[in-house]
Amino acid sequence: MIKKIPVHLLEPGMYVSDFNAGWLNHPFAFNSMLINSEADLAKVRAAGIRELFIDTDRGRDVGDGVPTAAEASRESAEQLDRMATTSRPVVAEARVSLAEEMNRAHVAYGEATRVIRNLMDDIRLGHQVELASTRPTVERIVASVMRNSNAMMTMRRLKSLDDYTFLHSVSVCAMLVTFSKVVDLEMNAIHDLALGALVHDVGKMRVAQAVLNKPARLSEEEYRHMKSHVVLGSDYIRQLPGIPALALEPLELHHERYDGSGYPRGLKGDEISQVGRMSGIVDVYDAITSDRVYRKGMSPAAAVQKLFEWSKFHFDPALTQVFVKSVGIYPVGTLVRLESGRLGVVIEQSDAHLLTPRVRVMYDAKRMHYIAPEVVDLSRPMGAGGADRIVGYEIPDKLGIDVSRFLL
Ligand SMILES: [Fe+2]
Repeated sequence: MIKKIPVHLLEPGMYVSDFNAGWLNHPFAFNSMLINSEADLAKVRAAGIRELFIDTDRGRDVGDGVPTAAEASRESAEQLDRMATTSRPVVAEARVSLAEEMNRAHVAYGEATRVIRNLMDDIRLGHQVELASTRPTVERIVASVMRNSNAMMTMRRLKSLDDYTFLHSVSVCAMLVTFSKVVDLEMNAIHDLALGALVHDVGKMRVAQAVLNKPARLSEEEYRHMKSHVVLGSDYIRQLPGIPALALEPLELHHERYDGSGYPRGLKGDEISQVGRMSGIVDVYDAITSDRVYRKGMSPAAAVQKLFEWSKFHFDPALTQVFVKSVGIYPVGTLVRLESGRLGVVIEQSDAHLLTPRVRVMYDAKRMHYIAPEVVDLSRPMGAGGADRIVGYEIPDKLGIDVSRFLL
């Protein structure tokens, strides 16, 4: 049986079936393993893991009173459900339609990916770097998000596997700008923190490539080296002229955690600035929803449930709620399955309810063929057949569906 336990109950002989921490946060290349020794335990604790799942069929059990994984997951799903049904989504106001913004967002996303790739290549090769040259591309991302943030959010889905570090940089930038718009930060601040978000992982170019791209378990030494990307990045960026103080925050604080379990400084609560706390949430959300060479990304709905769980310890709970309410449980561009057996692409968040976006229905999953596209507003009753509702998430690639064809 799978049980969810707090880390202080973990003992040698227990079999961890899921570290419940995302790949970024633990030094184990496999997400399941037998805990053999005190050293393994120490490593789990040092990684800031507070709760994890054990399989009592494959290792020692815990005492009574610990919920099973199914119970724990039901509890966090219920918590999310409560939030989704009782509070309104935070919809970033759009000045232009998604259709109008898509092309510009596409160009800006592609350009930003090239710019950050060049910048990071230069850093890796020890060339002179001009941070000012990234300004125009940062401005274009900010401008696009201000016009209609959904367009940039949709671009995240175009990611390919091999360019992860660059695409992640651009996505974190676009999402942090969206988040900042929602919490109403000033425009000047948004421009500075957007620059910082774009370069938040440049320190990775000073991490040995063999460690950075290693698809197998990192040794303790390698994990320490990997974590040094924050300090390496900050040392590098700080010596460049004209870097605004706020731009340093996403870079220096994105791995700090609310409960003090993060790195490099182990800051706690409000010791981490608001922008720093926001950066951590965005960084993890993008990482766990992204496809990597060695694993598939989580669905957005599963990812927000995880964020919720982790926000008990790792993230500012209030900011996590705002973030989830703004990206939605089914973000624009998500392929969803409806109770009627039809599939549709989310095209707009409703401002009534997180679980009832507007969807362009276009596929009959029972008969497995396309149907005439039709926009359904799930927040409204649907005529004779009654209201339809979302029952799940579908992976477009599996069905050979090109979501972008149905967005507009
Ligand atoms: Fe990082």
